[in-house]
Amino acid sequence: MKTQSIVAALVIPFVATLAHAGDDAMLSEARNVAMSLPPKLLASLQEEIKKSGPEGAIPVCKDMAPKMAGKLFQETGWKVKRVSLKPRNEARAIPDDWEKAALEDFDRRAAAGEPPAQLEKGETVGSEYRYVKALPVQPLCLNCHGPVDQLSPAVKSVLGEHYPNDRATGYSVGQIRGAISVRKPL
Ligand code: HEC
Repeated sequence: MKTQSIVAALVIPFVATLAHAGDDAMLSEARNVAMSLPPKLLASLQEEIKKSGPEGAIPVCKDMAPKMAGKLFQETGWKVKRVSLKPRNEARAIPDDWEKAALEDFDRRAAAGEPPAQLEKGETVGSEYRYVKALPVQPLCLNCHGPVDQLSPAVKSVLGEHYPNDRATGYSVGQIRGAISVRKPL
């Protein structure tokens, strides 16, 4: 073996391992950022629903969620958004091609029996690291994302006012409502 190929044989796997370790570090960073949002939202939703009913909790999903996402970006450098195959807010929740493919894959895997709360995908795409995590429907979500005939009149009226093209109803518990999507330049 020539010296050159010996060096290559030693160095290439080493570089490959480094690249892999970099991806693993990005994955756990992305996962931490993405997972920090839903528990806070859930707690605020619970609190507001108790205090002022589901229609009173709408600002949590409408205003507080994007505000928290903006704050996360400032603190971590990760861009955070929520996307869905059936978006309520057309201005911010329509998935791009990469997100759409991931969401479709999540739906297939959930239908095949994988626990929806565990569905995630993270990878380097071009010059960014991208990560999505599925958001499964829990009983509380049905107040605003359940079948239309089961929404309260007050919720229906507020949703109708803000989201004339709302597609985010008709869900049942365990389905995937959408995903948290985070991205950061490498
Ligand atoms: C009190 C009503 C309410 C409850 C309860 C609620 N949501 Fe929402 N949800 C909304 C509203 C309003 C929006 C639109 C937000 C916006 O304008 O960006 C929304 C948007 C979303 C989005 C962003 C994608 C889209 O369709 O615009 C996701 C994902 C989502 N909700 C998931 C959930 C999950 C999961 C739960 C249960 C844990 C839940 N929501 C409970 C009202 C609610």
